[in-house]
Amino acid sequence: MSAETPAKKELAAIKGTKDILPGEVEVWQAVEAETRRLVELYGYRELRTPIIEPTELFEKGTGETSDIVTKEMYTFTDKGGRSITLRPEYTPSMARAILEHRLDLLPEPMRYYYIGPMFRYDKPQKGRYRQFHQLDIEVFNEKDPAIDAEIIEMADALLRTLGVEGTETLVNSVGCRACRPAYSRDLRSHAEKVRDRLCPDCRRKIATNPLRIFDCKVEGCREQAALFPKITATLCQECREHFARVCSYLDLYKVAYRVEPNLVRGLDYYTKTTFEIISGGLGAQNALLGGGRYDDMMKDFGGPDICGIGFAMGVERLISVLQIRPERKTVLYIAHMGDAGKRKGLELARFFRRNGVESLVEFGSKGFKAQFGRANKLGAAWVLVIGEDEIRKGLYQLKDMAAGTQTEGTPEDLLKIIQDKKI
Ligand code: HAM
Repeated sequence: MSAETPAKKELAAIKGTKDILPGEVEVWQAVEAETRRLVELYGYRELRTPIIEPTELFEKGTGETSDIVTKEMYTFTDKGGRSITLRPEYTPSMARAILEHRLDLLPEPMRYYYIGPMFRYDKPQKGRYRQFHQLDIEVFNEKDPAIDAEIIEMADALLRTLGVEGTETLVNSVGCRACRPAYSRDLRSHAEKVRDRLCPDCRRKIATNPLRIFDCKVEGCREQAALFPKITATLCQECREHFARVCSYLDLYKVAYRVEPNLVRGLDYYTKTTFEIISGGLGAQNALLGGGRYDDMMKDFGGPDICGIGFAMGVERLISVLQIRPERKTVLYIAHMGDAGKRKGLELARFFRRNGVESLVEFGSKGFKAQFGRANKLGAAWVLVIGEDEIRKGLYQLKDMAAGTQTEGTPEDLLKIIQDKKI
């Protein structure tokens, strides 16, 4: 809030949340429209769920050892005594909705997307907010590694169409319930040996989930984690083959990637493939998007044995690296004089709007000069002039503000001129 703001400080937006104002919102709309267009080309359909969910959904889904569940959820008890959480991520909500509506019984492929707000109580900084937006993509019931590669290719294609450059795609496999326990034990004994060099948080993680040490941003912990054994070396045959095939399909798609063995991702549900696309332009919070496979979530929710894979992209982070800055200007400004002129202006605004031309008619009585001044300020492409003469003749003046030319005509004639110029 600026120093001159008349509103009280306590009425300001909550820390870590942002208003998206006109001027900025056009970029959001353009990104959302392009995203919808592209993901629908790959067969995804939108699935919207409530912002509030039972807390257990994330405890069970996101995982009890994740930072999200242990530290970052907005949780409250409602008047009925139920523990409610503002969704911190979308994957568990999507899985819940699938089970609740038995979408797994429908014949179509289970490919869904959503764009909307998520909530995490983390320390706000550049690229990290308490309310932020994700594009979330999920595919269910597709075991084939070709889908792992296809969604990475789709993420890559989306970034290319939006003109994002300088990104790097990281991929890894975190194994499955067959091979990960042995790796975790190995990791635990390595971490135990360097316990004193780890931060208090990571020391706790040794017992709960040593893989989470890889998520720590503390320099000393990162140095130690770099020396830990690599999960890729201990994958079971199935996971190893799956990962090799994901990589070979990525090669087929000509998607550039780097295998990053420390990419375990901060959520507990991942199995096999994990991936992230990072951008040098983002600073410390450098992940534009992240995702992976989660083959056990549905089963853990008590549903059928249906595997899942997906990713989520941070919309604020995406927009911060975009160059597009669409501008929105008034198209037609309707200048009028006297009461009859105003009435005609209201009528003609309706006519032009119904024919798809954005029109602005201001209600106050000002002279034509002042109205042209307003139109100029607003960047209007056209001004329609309605004075006594025009009303009498039924012919109006249309000024092309860029060219400085003026044409007389009926509303239909003038509409055609505007439409032909396609502003
Ligand atoms: P995530 O890595 O927690 O994964 O979040 C995905 C993306 O959301 C991040 O790469 C980042 O761009 C954005 N993001 C996360 N937290 C914040 C924040 N506090 N402020 C701004 N942006 C943020 C998930 O959420 C998984 N549900 C992804 C997934 C879908 N995995 C499988 N399916």
